[in-house]
Amino acid sequence: MNHPSSTQEVPAHGDVPRHVAIIMDGNGRWARSRMLPRIAGHRRGLEAVRATVENCAERGIGYLTLFAFSSENWRRPAEEVALLMQLFQSALTQEAERLHRAAVRLRVVGDTRRFGRKIRLLIEQAERLTADNQRLTLTIAANYGGRWDILQALTRLVADKGRPEKLDEAALAPYLAMSYAPEPDLFIRTGGEQRISNFLLWQLAYSELYFTETLWPDFDAQALDQAIASYRGRERRFGRTSEQVAATLATAKRA
Ligand code: FPP
Repeated sequence: MNHPSSTQEVPAHGDVPRHVAIIMDGNGRWARSRMLPRIAGHRRGLEAVRATVENCAERGIGYLTLFAFSSENWRRPAEEVALLMQLFQSALTQEAERLHRAAVRLRVVGDTRRFGRKIRLLIEQAERLTADNQRLTLTIAANYGGRWDILQALTRLVADKGRPEKLDEAALAPYLAMSYAPEPDLFIRTGGEQRISNFLLWQLAYSELYFTETLWPDFDAQALDQAIASYRGRERRFGRTSEQVAATLATAKRA
């Protein structure tokens, strides 16, 4: 298994973030304000997904992770859940080839056992088709929850190694659902709420958090650039003092 170095090792200062993770919120409100059904908002949301994948690839962002369906979203009205499932299924059918042509690798994380057989099969096929692509890794978090992830990692660790005498972060990390990616540098939530909502709890420990009122269907290149500009203006210290960070950066520049 390949484990890229943690974001904690090198302060990504003034750069394009390597990994952007997004909670795409506000589809329902976007639709309501136009007197449209909620699913029309999700359809427009899918267009914003397409644009954001392209915009991230163009900017040299290596990993984009999108929270498409949380473990809690099953509580929505049955009709909306069914329509969302249809939308995922048609997106997987229609987009896999396009992603592949754009050299995007697709990964899906979450407890996919709860999805229908057809969706699980399409996920498997799309992941296989795009497995070797290197331009951008697009991860869709579907039936995902941060607490679920930590528990499934622990369960698999114990199944593999037995009950460990000493458990540390490095032992658990390879079992987390996104062990193939560096931790997110930048977390974005659209739609005005300021919560993590059980997204990547472990992996967001040191991420810069950015909240915007923009509703997800309206999240365009300009909105992405605003988020990146905000990220660039921040000093990432990972617990160190400003002086230590400045010294590390000076050393890195000289090297
Ligand atoms: C949140 O908006 C959005 C969702 C729960 C679903 C996200 C789905 C998409 C963006 C489309 C499909 C995406 C893929 C990757 C196939 P909300 O309904 O909570 O909006 P509200 O807060 O305004 O009600």
